[in-house]
Amino acid sequence: MVALPDPKKSFGRVFNYANNPITIIGIGLTTLSALVIITFLVVELFGELENPYIGLFAYVAMPAVFVLGLTLIPVGMWRRRGALIAEGATETEKSRYPRLDFNDPKVRRGGIIIIGLTAVNAVIFGSSSFIAVEKMETVAFCGETCHTVMQPEFTAYQQSPHSRVACVECHIGPGASWFVKSKLDGLRQVWHTALDTYSRPVGTPLKTLRPARETCEQCHWPGKHHGDKLRVLVRHATDEKNTPSYTVMLLKTGGGNLDIGRHGGIHWWHIESDNVIRYVSGDDRRESVLWVELTTADGEVRTYSRPGEELPADVASQARTMDCIDCHNRPTHLFSTPPKALDWVLETHPEFLELPYFKKQAKTAIEAEYTTHSEGVAAVRESLVAYYRDEYPDVFAENSKLVEDGADLASRVFARISFPEMNTNWETHPNHIGHDDSPGCWRCHDDEMATADGKHVIPMDCENCHVFLVEDAPDRPDLAALINGA
Ligand code: HEC
Ligand code: HEC
Ligand code: HEC
Ligand code: HEC
Ligand code: HEC
Repeated sequence: MVALPDPKKSFGRVFNYANNPITIIGIGLTTLSALVIITFLVVELFGELENPYIGLFAYVAMPAVFVLGLTLIPVGMWRRRGALIAEGATETEKSRYPRLDFNDPKVRRGGIIIIGLTAVNAVIFGSSSFIAVEKMETVAFCGETCHTVMQPEFTAYQQSPHSRVACVECHIGPGASWFVKSKLDGLRQVWHTALDTYSRPVGTPLKTLRPARETCEQCHWPGKHHGDKLRVLVRHATDEKNTPSYTVMLLKTGGGNLDIGRHGGIHWWHIESDNVIRYVSGDDRRESVLWVELTTADGEVRTYSRPGEELPADVASQARTMDCIDCHNRPTHLFSTPPKALDWVLETHPEFLELPYFKKQAKTAIEAEYTTHSEGVAAVRESLVAYYRDEYPDVFAENSKLVEDGADLASRVFARISFPEMNTNWETHPNHIGHDDSPGCWRCHDDEMATADGKHVIPMDCENCHVFLVEDAPDRPDLAALINGA
């Protein structure tokens, strides 16, 4: 029978067991990392530590060392215990204190210091893990720590309407359970990054993304998505003059609620009216739709599919409930197509319209293949300068600054939308709003998706979604005149 240790003796035993190199190293690591963390805390008091790597070091790596130290302490003790037993030490010998005489003031002081440090260590560990969690919530941590991996999303984010919304507001949202889930998922990602086995591009859709209605609706109240949206689109041809054409359309975003008395439109139909739409995608990127189920506010259930299309046997069990992200999949990480990205910058920099074939050349240069982001940025610039120098020497001689600036602009457009190292660009991450660049709304609204009895079709009528007020006009329309009916 194993005798329970005498409490009087067990304290001595702890000290005796601790008297070994592993435990002493453990104590050293713990104390050292604690001191490093304190130093960073003090530095932090005198100004933010902006660099995410410092945060990672001080509040993630150091606590890890701290915990390692704490683990070494009992490991060393356990081994020494084993050694003592192997030596055949008696119970009394095992419990013998290292020669520490607490009557000796030096030893006593040492003891008090150790106890004091342990208490301080506890506080440090607590606060540093708190700070670590805070660090991990910052945009800099999410966007910059794994530089190459997150570069495409971070770059697009910085240009987006949500550039002041923290990554975690959309990717995690409030509440402890999603927080824990995301941290566990994060560990897996750190692992893949460390082993260099992450996928390029980072996979989309994010299957573990929290339902958008719980995140987006922290800020966007669908009841307030009322009113239609006036869009003025400027598109430039790829001809010598970069000829613009203007389209004005009213997008029937709609929304509102029955109290306001105004309802209808895209948001109302899919989000506000209590319709629930579920669908099954034909591919793992949700770029095609095979099957749709609509449950209306009064409980009627309709299922739609394309006549003759094969469906998996258990189709309903694979369904995903449609939410904001099924239309707004790029509210933040938008990699515009080169023509649209160029139309957008030409709208704000009309001076470049003077450069013959500017859009065409810039588009070709941006769409070419490059092996790295920085190579592409430089090559786009150089190829435009070379084009005007060789093909339009007069233009180049007369206004080389305009050519240089235009080339800069094109390379900046490239920098935002193409990331060769991560295989990420407008083709790998298309936008589902609309139907111009990818099937988008037409994944379902193709006039073919129908109920089995053919009574209901998901309609493709242009006017359901938008009304054109002006189509492809050569001059900028006068909106005031348009509204006043002049
Ligand atoms: C306004 C909300 C929002 C914010 C803010 C946001 N994201 Fe996203 N993010 C999304 C959505 C929506 C998707 C695409 C989801 C899908 O299609 O499944 C996404 C996808 C991603 C992806 C997967 C690859 C891709 O492009 O689809 C990564 C990586 C990512 N986000 C990182 C970040 C980082 C880093 C930040 C902060 C710098 C951030 N996100 C901020 C909404 C957001
Ligand atoms: C923390 C608040 C917040 C969250 C969360 C948020 N947004 Fe926004 N969103 C905004 C603000 C603020 C604007 C307006 C920005 C501006 O006009 O400068 C905006 C603008 C938009 C726009 C209009 C963009 C444009 O081009 O004008 C869309 C669409 C949008 N958000 C969709 C979403 C979706 C989808 C989600 C969830 C994935 C989401 N937002 C989450 C705050 C938020
Ligand atoms: C069926 C597709 C669809 C769904 C689902 C959807 N939206 Fe939209 N939303 C649109 C379209 C289309 C527009 C107009 C797009 C544009 O301006 O280019 C829009 C515009 C917006 C705008 C900008 C409004 C403005 O007047 O500028 C916001 C904000 C927005 N949506 C938020 C949301 C949120 C939040 C959700 C989820 C609760 C959501 N949407 C669900 C299609 C959708
Ligand atoms: C996953 C499938 C799906 C996608 C994607 C989708 N819708 Fe729908 N939508 C439906 C279904 C189902 C209905 C109801 C059809 C019916 O009336 O039987 C509907 C109805 C509508 C209506 C009302 C039509 C009417 O009869 O008045 C509008 C407007 C609309 N959608 C716009 C959009 C827009 C804009 C997009 C893209 C941004 C979009 N939808 C994307 C499934 C979808
Ligand atoms: C289910 C809804 C829906 C239907 C049906 C639909 N559209 Fe659209 N369309 C959209 C949305 C949403 C956008 C805006 C996309 C954006 O915000 O850039 C759009 C944009 C466009 C654009 C502008 C493209 C650009 O950016 O240059 C054109 C042109 C267009 N639609 C033509 C049509 C025509 C023609 C039809 C009828 C055959 C049609 N659409 C049917 C939803 C729809």
